[in-house]
Amino acid sequence: MSQHPFYYKAKSPSNIAFIKYWGKKNTQEPINPSMSMTLENCYTLTELTVLAGQEDIKVDFFLDGMMNEKFQLRVIKYIKSLGEKYPVLNHCHFKIETSNTFPHSSGIASSASGFSALALCLGAFLKDQGILNDSVSSLARLGSGSACRSLVSPFAFWGNSDEVIGSSDEEAIEFPCEAMPELSDIIFLLETKEKSHSSSLGHEEMNFHPYKKVRIEQVKRRIKELKSAFSKGDFSSLGKIIEEEALELHALMMTSPHPFWLMSPETLNLMNYIKELRIGGLDAFFTLDAGANLHLISLKKDQDKIIEKVKEKFPAINFIKDSQGQAGHLLV
Ligand code: DP6
Repeated sequence: MSQHPFYYKAKSPSNIAFIKYWGKKNTQEPINPSMSMTLENCYTLTELTVLAGQEDIKVDFFLDGMMNEKFQLRVIKYIKSLGEKYPVLNHCHFKIETSNTFPHSSGIASSASGFSALALCLGAFLKDQGILNDSVSSLARLGSGSACRSLVSPFAFWGNSDEVIGSSDEEAIEFPCEAMPELSDIIFLLETKEKSHSSSLGHEEMNFHPYKKVRIEQVKRRIKELKSAFSKGDFSSLGKIIEEEALELHALMMTSPHPFWLMSPETLNLMNYIKELRIGGLDAFFTLDAGANLHLISLKKDQDKIIEKVKEKFPAINFIKDSQGQAGHLLV
């Protein structure tokens, strides 16, 4: 008897980390807690069709309508890892059709939006089977660590910390933000080609990093400062933490056992200009993920003024206007 297929559709955003996840332990758990802002305009749409009760697992993966072997292999590995706990997944044919509103593999976390969207669909399928007993955030984490944060908004916290009640290495929770005015993220696309080092390779470098212990202590201290900045709605103190974290992340890459660097000359030019703008009275702070693109964080009310200023200096610059947004959710 032929089975009817199950169909799900999810929309899930990327997120930008203010405190960076860099280094893993156990099964996709972070060596230090991280905190991020969930975005609004940079998101993934994923449709999943599942035919259950098959002999073997089969995955057809399409990115923007095209089969993509690299992502397909990562997704198969992910679904098989979930299949250890949920064997039903080892006997399904999956068709995954996905698209992003932004360039992938360029330092905007497409793995965060991609795996959170896929986890929403797979979680819904497992729920329909009556066997889901994990949070969707923890399912997403197993695909890509930062993905667990995209399922919480507007600010997400992931990783055990004495400073944040209810925090856990397994899933993200909401970070309290009542006093903070609405924030903007302007993402300057300085390099859209595929980056030379994946985040996963970078995480591995932390296993034997000479500054690993120092890094963990630094994050502990910054989480206290972060809490204080958010409880007072103190954007300037938050900005200082955001920039320290970006610079430390890239310094860790450059001082890794196998050093690498992902910033480009354009990244540095823009960082210098942002410093100048601040001296001129504009409150905006940069952050970087594992890539050359620069995220400029400011209060939402200052977003257009800042774009104008940057365009005066760099008229040809490409950017995405974004802001704090909604967590990933199922559409169907
Ligand atoms: C620099 O979540 O992409 O963006 O768990 O191996 O998929 P995997 O890594 P990933 O790492 C993100 C690293 C980062 C910082 C962050 O988003 O916290």
